[in-house]
This record gives sequence, C-alpha cells and structure tokens, in this order.
Amino acid sequence: MMNDLSRLAFYGGKPVSEQPIRPRPVIDEEEIKAVEEVLRSRKLSSLAGDKTKKFEEEFAKYIGTKFAIATSNGTTALHTALAAAGIKAGDEVIVPPITFVATATSVLHQDAVPVFADIDKDTFTISPEEVKKKITEKTKAIIVVHLFGHPAEMDEIMEIARERNLIVVEDCAQAIGAEYKGRKVGSIGHISAFSFYATKNMMTGEGGMVLTNDERMANKAMLIRHHGQASTYHYEILGYNYRITEMQSAIGLVQLKKLENFNNMRRKHAKIYYDELKGVKGLELPVEKPYAKHVFHLYTIKLTEEVEVPRDDFVKYLRAENVPAGVFYPTSLHLEPLFQNLYERGKKLDFYKNVKYKAGDFPVSEDVSGRVFSLYTDPVLTDDEIVTISSAVKKVISVTT
Ligand SMILES: Cc1ncc(COP(=O)(O)O)c(C=O)c1O
Repeated sequence: MMNDLSRLAFYGGKPVSEQPIRPRPVIDEEEIKAVEEVLRSRKLSSLAGDKTKKFEEEFAKYIGTKFAIATSNGTTALHTALAAAGIKAGDEVIVPPITFVATATSVLHQDAVPVFADIDKDTFTISPEEVKKKITEKTKAIIVVHLFGHPAEMDEIMEIARERNLIVVEDCAQAIGAEYKGRKVGSIGHISAFSFYATKNMMTGEGGMVLTNDERMANKAMLIRHHGQASTYHYEILGYNYRITEMQSAIGLVQLKKLENFNNMRRKHAKIYYDELKGVKGLELPVEKPYAKHVFHLYTIKLTEEVEVPRDDFVKYLRAENVPAGVFYPTSLHLEPLFQNLYERGKKLDFYKNVKYKAGDFPVSEDVSGRVFSLYTDPVLTDDEIVTISSAVKKVISVTT
C-alpha cells in the first residue's frame, strides 16, 4: 500500500539533502597544468605534438593490446573500429538494443544493418543465446557492450564468433578498467572502442580510443582517422578527420594514472549502496558475476512490481530530494523512430526496407528499459553523500510500495 506521498520533497516535504548533490569529473591542478603546458607549447594538434602518441602507448599498455588509435570521441572510435574491421554496405552486425545509440548508429555509418539481439536480465549485456539465434549468412560482426561497467560474457561470444568466423567489436565506453576472468575488457575481442566523454570512468572532456592486436586493422584505423591519407596528400581509402587534440590527450595521460584509484572509489561507493539498500523492498540491486570485475560506471537498479508508481515518477521524486539519479536507457533502441523505419529515416538503401522491428521483439530489453534507474558512483562524491542518496531511495521506496 502506498503511504503518504506528502512526505516527499516533490509534494512539499523536506528534502533528504539540503543542497543538490552533483556528480562531476575529477579535475585537479595536474590536469590544468597538463593542458596549460600544451597551450604554451603551441602544439595543439596531434599532427604537431607528442601527447597523443604517448597517450596511445600508455593506454594500450594499460589495457593490454599492441595497437591504439586515439580519436575525437567514443562514437568516432566505434565507427573507426567497424570501418577498420571491414564492415561494408549490407553486412549484418549484431548489437544489443539497450545501449547508447552510437553503438547501433556506428553500424549505419558503414551502411550496414544493425540486427538486435536481446540482453541478459541480470547483467544487461548481450545474451550469447540470443546472438546465436540472429546469425545469418550476412552476419559479419557482433558488438558487445560492457554496459554500466559490467563485462559481457566474452568466452561464449568469442566461441560463437570463432565457429562462424565473425568479428567481435567490444564497446568499452562504460567499462574502462573492467575485467573478464582477469583480462581487461577491450583486449579480448578483435577490436574495441572506448569513450573518454566527461562522465566516463576516466575522461578527456570528449575523446575516444580504438584498440586491437591486429596490425592490419590498426593500420586501417589510422588511415580512417586521418582522411585515408597514407602519405602526404596521397589518399588510399575513404577517411575522415576523427583526430583527438593534444589538450585532450594531455588530460588523458593524467587521468589514466588516476584510473585505478577512480575505479576503486566507484567500487567502494557501489559497496556502500549495496550495504545500505540490500533487502529493501521494491529494488533489484546490480549483480557482479563471478567472472567479472565491475567498474560501476553507473549503479543501475531495477524497480520491481512492488513499486506502485511508474519508474519516471520514482526518479522525479528522487531528484526532488536533491539527489542525482538517471535513466539509462528509457527506450529499447528497436522501438526508436530511426530503427522503426531505417529506410525512410536513415539512408534510402534497399536492404533497409526489410528491417522490421516491433514491440515484443526483445522482451528482456523492453522490460529493463521500463524499470531501471541509475545512481552515480563518481569519485568526487563522498561516502556520506552516497549514504544520503541511499536514504533518499529508501524514503521514496517507503511511500511508493
Ligand atoms: C555504450 C556507449 N557507446 C558509445 C558511446 C559514445 O561515446 P561518445 O559520447 O564519446 O561519442 C557511449 C557514450 O557516451 C556509450 O556509453
């Protein structure tokens, strides 16, 4: 039974936190000095300075791959990875429907077809069983997304890929430093893409990275990033300007040194949420599979049917308590207008006419998208703030279940 909603700050009650609690990137003197140094050097482009090369080397060493190609953001990293992997017009690429849109639009940018496969209900990552069902003779690749910081089931995915001769692309945007059976994600598939957007576990404001052990793919990725230029004013393939700047790489070098500490803080905050919220009616807390080191980019909770208000109202009530909460992702991508009508809304390519998605196609994704909300674990937040956020969740639960 619902209790008295008037206790909620949303309806005029006293908020749990007097001041708004705001997640934000960690930026210290070190990052500021690093950018200042680049500015003073006047070498702002990666074509002029050496920060980007250094950032690539250090990042590849940290994750454990031979090659790294830094890009302007995570979206361009994904597109570069797919193009370098040779995905071409009409190819089918299997992707999860619960992810940031760029995972699927990177496939469209190669004029290929995103084929959705449903997710696992506990980890929210692509289900190997569902992937198997979607493979056709046109399938060329699988994109796994290590969503919210939890690694996907890589052994099973790699096995499927081996049997069918498919390429595995890892979208590691939300899982920098996460591990699968002791190996860092981004070093397991054939090629991987990272994002260093301002909210990520380490950040450069905007920024991205492609990693691979495959020399041929690495060389192609380098061409794609820089106009397809093999030598000065000599263009071998279709390329873009997807270069990162030296200011971004300088920040990245500093943040990379702090990453382990950042991830430990995020894990500690996740543990506090867990201790504060375990056993609370109405909440299904995130899991960490035995094979996984979760880096909790977000602490994503599923509301159960015991909660008697829609998820969006729940989050509205929570925010009114002056605590941060997000919804990632409110709609399973196959129901978005773009994917409902790829032919009309994307490029008018004949093979998009046959792509039809409808409600009910991906029951786990559709269910999850309606019930999840995320709490923040950012290292700038204090342990006390994490406890306060947890109290706000308990308060809203107490009047909505
Ligand atoms: C899973 C996922 N893939 C891709 C991206 C794209 O990265 P960016 O925003 O740096 O372009 C993001 C992040 O925003 C993401 O969360």
